[in-house]
Amino acid sequence: MNEHVDPTEIKTPTDIREESEDIGRNDTPNPTMGDIINRRYSRRGFLGGSLAVAAIGATVSPMALLAGKAQAATASAFDFTETIAGVDETHHIAEGYDADILLRWGDKVLPDAPDFDPMNQSADAQAKQFGYNNDYVGFIPLDGSEDRGLLVVNHEYTNGELMFPGLARVVDGKVEMGDYTRELVDIEMAAHGGTIIEIRKGENGKWQPVLDSPHNRRITVNTEMALSGPVAGHDRVKTNADPSGTKVFGTLNNCAGGVTPWGTYLMAEENFHGYFGGELPAGHREEENYKRVGAPGGWYNWASFHDRFDVSKEPNEPNRFGWIVEVDVLDPNSTPRKRTALGRFKHEGCETVVNGDGRVVCYTGDDERFDYVYKFVTAGTFDEADRTANMNLLDEGTLYVARFDEDGTMEWLPLVHGEGPLTAENGFESQADVLIETRRAADLLGATKMDRPEDVQPNAATGKVYCMLTNNTRRKADDVNVANPRPENAFGHIIEITETDGDFASTKSTWEILLKCGDPSIAEVGATFSPATSENGWFGMPDNCAIDADGRLWVSTDGNSQSKTGRTDGLWAVDTEGEARGTSKLFFRVPVGAEMCGPYFTPSGETLFLAVQHPGDEGLATFESPATRWPDFDEKLPVRPSLLVVTKQGGGKIA
Ligand code: FEO
Ligand code: CA
Ligand code: CA
Repeated sequence: MNEHVDPTEIKTPTDIREESEDIGRNDTPNPTMGDIINRRYSRRGFLGGSLAVAAIGATVSPMALLAGKAQAATASAFDFTETIAGVDETHHIAEGYDADILLRWGDKVLPDAPDFDPMNQSADAQAKQFGYNNDYVGFIPLDGSEDRGLLVVNHEYTNGELMFPGLARVVDGKVEMGDYTRELVDIEMAAHGGTIIEIRKGENGKWQPVLDSPHNRRITVNTEMALSGPVAGHDRVKTNADPSGTKVFGTLNNCAGGVTPWGTYLMAEENFHGYFGGELPAGHREEENYKRVGAPGGWYNWASFHDRFDVSKEPNEPNRFGWIVEVDVLDPNSTPRKRTALGRFKHEGCETVVNGDGRVVCYTGDDERFDYVYKFVTAGTFDEADRTANMNLLDEGTLYVARFDEDGTMEWLPLVHGEGPLTAENGFESQADVLIETRRAADLLGATKMDRPEDVQPNAATGKVYCMLTNNTRRKADDVNVANPRPENAFGHIIEITETDGDFASTKSTWEILLKCGDPSIAEVGATFSPATSENGWFGMPDNCAIDADGRLWVSTDGNSQSKTGRTDGLWAVDTEGEARGTSKLFFRVPVGAEMCGPYFTPSGETLFLAVQHPGDEGLATFESPATRWPDFDEKLPVRPSLLVVTKQGGGKIA
């Protein structure tokens, strides 16, 4: 380590990428929320402070003890003892539970995969091994069994500086990346996409991958896929490699996702713009369209080696990404289908529910500052007795975007060609145009600009829908709205939608803010956790969430750190009902630099899957400080993204 450099000041490629999306425009001298937070969570305290705090983590503060008493009085629906918030090199879970590593980046998925060798990586090997940065996790039971099923996992993106030993170096306090070769790019492409792998619970109650299962499959940026729905075959999605406009190679930046009621796997394509380079030919018809999504973003070097990622050579290729992909996991040779009826934008996830009338409703957020919340209602109905009959349900239906009104009502606005402003006069010749430029169509309808919509999760038991709004530090005091009321919203909030009479297809609904996140002890933050929430129980930056077998809400986070909240990301259990509503408890926390993804419960609620994404991705600590190394990984590499399986010691339901 370079002693003259504060490790928290080192900018990694991830920091630089995030900053490029977060350019402030307010140059007044007023103290910003960042100033206030910095005073509380001194960046200088990182190694000496936080790791030391973690080491004495068993010492509970008087505040936490007081809060603990309050929790008992309010009857939280969650019966577990919180773990302690903080920052250190490993993960922590509530007492009485086990968190076992099930799969790590590089582990075998296909039977003929070679052993992981970080010093001798290849694209061929990676295409048979568990990919990088596991985000969404779903579990699809096989033969109705709770103890045997298919785990489906998204591999959202790659951190070259963490994957390839020696590629990144710190020089004078700056991260310098070495030159990318085609080989490295091809490994990155194989590390993206998804994994489908059979897992079984052994007699000892521990889950194991089944490496010789015929279901196991890796999906990558080279897997052949079909475009289906209204955009299939349209001129705007035709390329040299695919003059039919129906065949796409691969999927990328698959963030969250979903599992459908008929047991298929949904992969949401999020920041697709970042993979493209080059410049569009002057005056090209896609200029405005690509500007609205930030393409080409130039985050990766793929365009240098693969023409399809260079928009000067393949100007239509970005229109072939930004969709929801559906995979039939029971047939490992099936062609995944990009369901264009669900719109094209930076889909965070896609969670589904069967409505009372049998139609299927899918909720999906567009994760960018000031973008929107959507839902899709199928035209047809779900047939529980005939799986095949459901396989193309997602090709026909109505896509809606949300407008949140001041009186606590809201309207779901249909994105239908020919209705309202969505006509040829505004450049929409067909429904395909509306879907390719979903954002511009939603702009014209007057949708509400949100603080980065992430996971949007329906609760079938209650008719409620939970919308994670992770943060938006670019929102100014003069552009707040009632659903996004905080300027410089550094910590995000959670909106609870109540669909009218439990009808998820309803176009008029009501809403309220369940939680404004952040440290409740700092008045300027304005957090609204219930007073029963302990010092460990609050969090910032909600991202993914899950509803468990008992209809309870669990929230995982992305963006907590020593400097922002004095804690790593983790999984919190959040009460939504009764007097305890708004009470939150810390169940699990990740090692330094990681983001918490998943979470997903098996139908019985006895197993919980969690994804630890980009552990160690924080400053110099990322790849030079042994202190940030997670147990059980190769000394040659800093850390490995991993998938964890959580069970209760002695068995039984989680919490
Ligand atoms: Fe990939 Fe919106 O997080
Ligand atoms: Ca996310
Ligand atoms: Ca979810």
